[in-house]
Amino acid sequence: MRFPEDVPVLSDDVVTLRAHSLADADDVYELCQDPEMQRWTVIPVPYSREAAVSFVTEMVPDNWRKEYGERAWAIEVDGRFSGSVSLHGGEGGVGEIGFSIAPWVRGRGVMTRAAKLAIRHVFDDLGWQRVIWRAFVGNWASRRVAWKAGFRGVVVVPGGGSARGVRYDEWVATVARDEELEPQGNWWTVPELKGDGFVLRALRPDDAPRVQEACNDERTQYWLAGLPSPYELHHAEGFVESRKEPLASGEGVSWAIADAATDELLGNVSIFGMKKRMDSGSGEIGYWMHPAGRGRNLMTNAVRLVIEHAFTPIEEGGLSRRRITLLAAVGNTASAHVAEANGFTKVGVSRAAAPGREGRWDDDYIFEILPGDPRP
Ligand SMILES: CC(C)(COP(=O)(O)OP(=O)(O)OC[C@H]1O[C@@H](n2cnc3c(N)ncnc32)[C@H](O)[C@@H]1OP(=O)(O)O)[C@@H](O)C(=O)NCCC(=O)NCCS
Repeated sequence: MRFPEDVPVLSDDVVTLRAHSLADADDVYELCQDPEMQRWTVIPVPYSREAAVSFVTEMVPDNWRKEYGERAWAIEVDGRFSGSVSLHGGEGGVGEIGFSIAPWVRGRGVMTRAAKLAIRHVFDDLGWQRVIWRAFVGNWASRRVAWKAGFRGVVVVPGGGSARGVRYDEWVATVARDEELEPQGNWWTVPELKGDGFVLRALRPDDAPRVQEACNDERTQYWLAGLPSPYELHHAEGFVESRKEPLASGEGVSWAIADAATDELLGNVSIFGMKKRMDSGSGEIGYWMHPAGRGRNLMTNAVRLVIEHAFTPIEEGGLSRRRITLLAAVGNTASAHVAEANGFTKVGVSRAAAPGREGRWDDDYIFEILPGDPRP
């Protein structure tokens, strides 16, 4: 390949992918000062102006001249350099994508467009069979671009990534030539749902101390015996952080039940298990309440809002569930009350199903509700 003559120009009506040139060096330099760029990619830190010049005049051209070198395009939007997208490898028809976009065009879908253009090119014009996406765990903007561009089957490779001598856990997903470059499955959001005296909202890092109190409470520990004991602040912080993954994978949605006046966390309610049996339209509700929120019917009312949201069609902002289950340990009268007060039917007992204290296994009552069931 000759550079830049043989670099194909690819464009849709917003984005153009073209060869890099020396004129891009200042913008590359500016982009590489961005903290997100430094946190999530393998660029040198600090990043010098010389590094930017070397990138556009040596690294990129040299790679285009190699048979399986990195094919990096400059992303141009409104006549300005706005980032880079690259595909490297290609031996045996498989290679990897890499991308970065300048802060001045982020959040406008530019990266997703650029990624799709480059991927379509290697599939349609170069005969590649599969493209691999890799990102450090926690790079949600990259994960979202990958999802929007059709990557699927996300797995975590512990310690799979490295930058500047440090190993990081890594997400890996792929898309194949005969697969659509469109989102696979749902990426849920956490809508704010208003109740009487409380609001259901997304959990936040500053909820962690209240989560810890709630989960260290004797009654919570007794009935949710699978929780760590003692339940430390880092467990609570991990719990809050871990609520993002089920949204992205379509598996579940969790809310904080917060006091309407003070916004203080009073409890947690979640719907999960939404991808069991290949997303058959089911979901399971689970919850716990901080002692300060108990005895006021709050959980019953919170679950009512979650049921309504879950039975609402996706097109109207809901979860399109056609069946919800709820398990309550036999003997947990307060939990069974929440189910019954919401019109759930007790359909049976699951024996020795739930971890109890001291190595015991407790029986669970199984409750179910379908959209047509009468609800109080
Ligand atoms: C990753 C990156 C390229 C995304 O660029 P972008 O311009 O935001 O991309 P897009 O606009 O096409 O899509 C981003 C999506 O992520 C969403 N998003 C951004 N931050 C998010 C977060 N923290 N959690 C969840 N979603 C997030 C945006 O809302 C958008 O989704 P939407 O269009 O449905 O609203 C950009 O953030 C970047 O350059 N980061 C630094 C370099 C990098 O991380 N490269 C990838 C290494 S694997």
